[in-house]
Formats: sequence, C-alpha cells, structure tokens
Amino acid sequence: MDIKIISDNLNSEIIGRKIIYKEETDSTNNDAKRCMEYPEGSTFIADHQTAGKGRRGRSWEAEKGTEILMSVLLKPHLHPEKISVITAVAGIAVCRAVRKNEINAEIKWPNDIICKGKKLCGILCEMSVTGNELNYVAVGIGINVNTKFFFDDLAEKATSLRIEKGEPVNREKLIAEVLSEFDQCYADFIKKGFAVFKEEYEMLCATIGKEVKIIGK
Ligand code: BTN
Repeated sequence: MDIKIISDNLNSEIIGRKIIYKEETDSTNNDAKRCMEYPEGSTFIADHQTAGKGRRGRSWEAEKGTEILMSVLLKPHLHPEKISVITAVAGIAVCRAVRKNEINAEIKWPNDIICKGKKLCGILCEMSVTGNELNYVAVGIGINVNTKFFFDDLAEKATSLRIEKGEPVNREKLIAEVLSEFDQCYADFIKKGFAVFKEEYEMLCATIGKEVKIIGK
C-alpha cells in the first residue's frame, strides 16, 4: 500500500488528514480505539487483520493486500443517540465513491453495501460513551476490492469491485475517494443533520419496500 497515492488524491478537511498504516494489525477498529486521543479524522489502514471484526460478534476475513480495511476515528460533539446514523452517512460516502467507478452500489440497510444483491462492503461502528457524552466513534469500513473469486456459499453472497468491473481497481485511489466523500458527508451531517441525505439515502437504499427480518431488539 502506497500512502502517498492516498494523500495525493485526497480532497478533505478532516477525514484522512492523518493516516496510520500498518501492514498487519489485529483490527483497524482496535487501532482507532487504542489511539482515541489522536486528532479527529485520523484513519487507520491495514493490509491484513488477524482479528478483523464483523457485526454481531462475527469475524471479518479478507485476503491479504487485496481489499480495503480501514477505520476512521470521529469525535463529534453530539448526543450519543444522534450518532447511530453515522453508519448510513459512511454508507452514502462508500456508495458515492464506488459509483464513480461505474459500479451500481446500493445500501442494504443498515450496514452493508451491495451490488446486484451481493455484498461489496461492510461497515462496523464502535463507540465509547461516558454518561451522556460521546467520547469517540470508530467507523470501520471493509471493502471487497480485488478478490478474483469467492468460493462455495460465499460466491452467492459476496462480490468485489474487480469481479463487477472485470479489471483490478487501484485501492489507494479508491481509499482517497471514499475518505474525500466521507469528509464531505460528515461535514454536511454535522452542520445540517441527517435530513439533508433523505432523498439520496432513499435512492440508494435497496431495502426500502422489501420485507426485512429484525434480529434482536
Ligand atoms: C460487517 O459485518 O458487515 C461489518 C464488517 C466490517 C469490517 C471492517 S474491516 C475494517 C474494520 N476493522 C474491523 O475489524 N472491522 C471493520
């Protein structure tokens, strides 16, 4: 991974201004949590995770040096109740960046980005709260970028940008696009609230009008 390509292609005020890259880590979300005193927008990127985390206690597996594994540290002055939509804000940013690559990304509410019904990206947000105060939120983003094949039952459920495009995709440039879009979306969210994304979210959301199964409360 060449961090200079990311910085050279970044158009951002806060998100990704500081990048911490490791070839290998346990989880980039853990990196963000361990460095909670770092400036807002600090972005933790790895080529490999030994304990990548998915939702509901699952693990997140990814081929070494092939995908995007990153977490953004955010510290908004918001009531913790207001931050849950940050997953949707990040999802919109990922869709915008992926769509620039001519891939029809959609949001599968609440945490997945899909293409033609198959999972392209997962988002895992972890936050720390003291009383009514939000200390930070680590927004973890895993994008299937250059995997050539998924095997067995995964082949029906997962896809990558490479599979959809039929050619490899530059990870560094895509990271820069996602971070730049996220920076813009985050600034709009903080200034104007989530309502500003209503139309775009409805356009991107593949789940609207479909039957969904709610797990848990
Ligand atoms: C899901 O289950 O769909 C969410 C997956 C989130 C994976 C990303 S990869 C980067 C970051 N670090 C982690 O350990 N998980 C998130």
